[in-house]
Amino acid sequence: MSLQKYTKNTYQEQQAIETSQKLLSLYRKRRSTRFFTDQKIDQKIINNAIATAGSAPSGANRQPWLFCSVSCPQLKKQIRQLSEAEEENFYVKKPNKQWVKDLEFLHPKKEKPYLEYASHLILVFYKNQTITDEQEIQKNYYAKESTGIATGMLISALHLSGVSTLTYTPRRMKFIQELLEIDKSYIPFMLVVAGIAPEEFDVPMIKKKDLEQISKHYH
Ligand SMILES: Cc1cc2nc3c(=O)[nH]c(=O)nc-3n(C[C@H](O)[C@H](O)[C@H](O)COP(=O)(O)O)c2cc1C
Repeated sequence: MSLQKYTKNTYQEQQAIETSQKLLSLYRKRRSTRFFTDQKIDQKIINNAIATAGSAPSGANRQPWLFCSVSCPQLKKQIRQLSEAEEENFYVKKPNKQWVKDLEFLHPKKEKPYLEYASHLILVFYKNQTITDEQEIQKNYYAKESTGIATGMLISALHLSGVSTLTYTPRRMKFIQELLEIDKSYIPFMLVVAGIAPEEFDVPMIKKKDLEQISKHYH
């Protein structure tokens, strides 16, 4: 493996403290959004956010992810219809009572109009192995963990660009995979709804754990 010179980021303590504080307040403004206007997002912004996700670290640099962005109204409508049918299964036909109860605070609805009206749906997939051009099977190490990190970076990049998101995970996503004709070797990971939110809207009243609850410092 050949090596190349790399120049690190500048680190100036005071500036870093200010930047980290600014980032903290920017990130604390992120909320999962379930209401979207019909305003369209420039594909360049979506592509840049996906490229940001693509810069994520991954086990053995296998980059096991695939991000499919959908802005086609017809496809979004079909994804909405298929998802709502899946929601009907989840909530009505074969409900998992505990799961449904745990979601009560979100006031979930089976209707998902945002899947149709938000500007973009970004479908995230990963695969556990890759067949190389030489027909060799390569294992993708920590494929799911790597894709989780990349998706976090995607959501961050969109949020910092002023785009609101919802991580949406219907229990089964194979139907979307079939609709988009994605190779079966990929495993559906999640659907990120990306759009422009209205100026004001309701979100569930939730509390994030304090720093003391989520961290320990050994010095
Ligand atoms: C992996 C994952 C799956 C989620 N799935 C759904 C979902 O299917 N539907 C939904 O409305 N919200 C979903 N959410 C959003 C969570 O409900 C939300 O992140 C949580 O309530 C905290 O709210 P916040 O994102 O506004 O901080 C999901 C979030 C994550 C990280």
